[in-house]
Amino acid sequence: MPVMVEEVMDILRPESGNIYVDATIGYGGHAVRILELSAPDGVVVGIDKDEEAIEWVKRKVKPQWGERLIVKHGDFSNMGQMLHEEGITEVDGILMDLGMSSKQIEDVERGFSFKDDGPLDMRMDRRSALTAAEIVNRWSEEDIADILRTYGEERFARQIARGISDYRKKKEITTTKQLAEIVKKSIPHKFWGKIHPATRTFLALRIVVNDEMKNLERGLEEGINLLKSGKRLCVISFHSLEDRIVKQTFKKSLDEGIAKAISKKPILPGKEEIMKNRRARSAKLRWLEKDRRIK
Ligand SMILES: C[S@@+](CC[C@H](N)C(=O)[O-])C[C@H]1O[C@@H](n2cnc3c(N)ncnc32)[C@H](O)[C@@H]1O
Repeated sequence: MPVMVEEVMDILRPESGNIYVDATIGYGGHAVRILELSAPDGVVVGIDKDEEAIEWVKRKVKPQWGERLIVKHGDFSNMGQMLHEEGITEVDGILMDLGMSSKQIEDVERGFSFKDDGPLDMRMDRRSALTAAEIVNRWSEEDIADILRTYGEERFARQIARGISDYRKKKEITTTKQLAEIVKKSIPHKFWGKIHPATRTFLALRIVVNDEMKNLERGLEEGINLLKSGKRLCVISFHSLEDRIVKQTFKKSLDEGIAKAISKKPILPGKEEIMKNRRARSAKLRWLEKDRRIK
């Protein structure tokens, strides 16, 4: 279920004749709303690094919208190049709805979830080489502790890395359940808290497997560059590290005069939305309005 759809539309204010980018089209929820509001001839370029999402959108969404919806498989860090291939050099609005879709989380074979047993994969783009299994079985204990600390903000990083290192001496770690069990055993029960003890470990691995922080920095830069003067970029983030990058990049753009205005505080979903859609509970929406174009 797409998050904060109407809040995003209030910021982007889609209009006919304009070109929009949905840099994380997923299963098309936001993109379809932009297409509806920019009727009869607004165009959406939908990008996603997940080929399964792209194939689904091509089959289920594109037929209804024809040439008004252009679908591209790739990383939003290459947004400029992907638009260039379509002869587009500037756009009227961009949305980046970060993280994973419910379909990705629920598909056991993708290995994102510790709730069901699946292969330890976590690649959003299956063409890339690095998997979560590669990290937990081949990286040094120190490097594993380091990423758990940095990207998972995990206080038991050292203990979990030790648990992984001890386990893999006996047996290769190939499944999500195996890893979740190792993490559980590495954290004293009294520190488990409200969320599943493996949540932070899985988040850290996903961030590293998909190079999420670097791609986000590049994607924001590309997006800001592509915007026409007076037009807006919207970003929905789902954890503090992402939100920090968005906040800092927007602030820098404002200080440098590239942005005319930015959201002062993140916009949060309403109570009703959170009740209907649990995934919305950690969402934060920020926007930037372009001032001048630099090249
Ligand atoms: C929360 S979902 C988007 C849901 C979408 N807005 C909808 O309404 O269905 C996030 C999507 O972003 C994609 N994604 C994440 N990082 C990406 C990146 N760097 N480049 C392109 N797509 C990315 C994921 O594959 C996933 O499909």
